[in-house]
Amino acid sequence: KAGAMEDAERPGTLEAVADAIETCARCPIAELHTHAVPGEGPVHARLMIVGEQPGDQEDWQRRVFVGPAGQLLNVHLARAGIDRSAAYVTNAVKHFKFVQRGKRRLHQNPSAREIDTCRWWIESERAIVRPKLVLAMGASAARSVLGRTVSIGKTRGRPIPLEDGSELWVTAHPSYLLRLEGAGREKQMRLFDADLAAAAARLS
Ligand code: URA
Repeated sequence: KAGAMEDAERPGTLEAVADAIETCARCPIAELHTHAVPGEGPVHARLMIVGEQPGDQEDWQRRVFVGPAGQLLNVHLARAGIDRSAAYVTNAVKHFKFVQRGKRRLHQNPSAREIDTCRWWIESERAIVRPKLVLAMGASAARSVLGRTVSIGKTRGRPIPLEDGSELWVTAHPSYLLRLEGAGREKQMRLFDADLAAAAARLS
């Protein structure tokens, strides 16, 4: 199991993680031959933001959160007074998982097993960056940090202490907000804003 590998084998820099994930074939997503998308941001950022996996745009550009979900994330981070460039932004799963439909590549949720295999990398990133606060957006991100599935509704809005002294905040994923309409979307946007504001207050 990937998480059981010796600590001595962990990459010691973010550059080494970025190099290593490109050739990682520990899970079946590697067979899709997408690019690995490395995390981005200052090496000792106080805030680590974790998404689910790169999407179509992120895979082409090899950059995290540059597509529609990233645009929405930028709006909400700005609203909460969080400077994205000061945060380390990464994903639970490093490769884009999709099914091909004609010319389109449709996003597929990563399996629990794929998330757990990829935890090796997020744990390496956490050990290097050592953020004060980790913001996990969506169930895959929360599982990747905690190693178990939690309900977003039940865990959001309060800090969860992590074993390394940092704290986890769980919130919804911006892609979820994009899929909603009308009053439901408004409500979820407000909850997302409240989560970001609460996390921002812990950082100040
Ligand atoms: N969704 C994610 O979870 N991560 C990205 O990088 C882009 C979209």
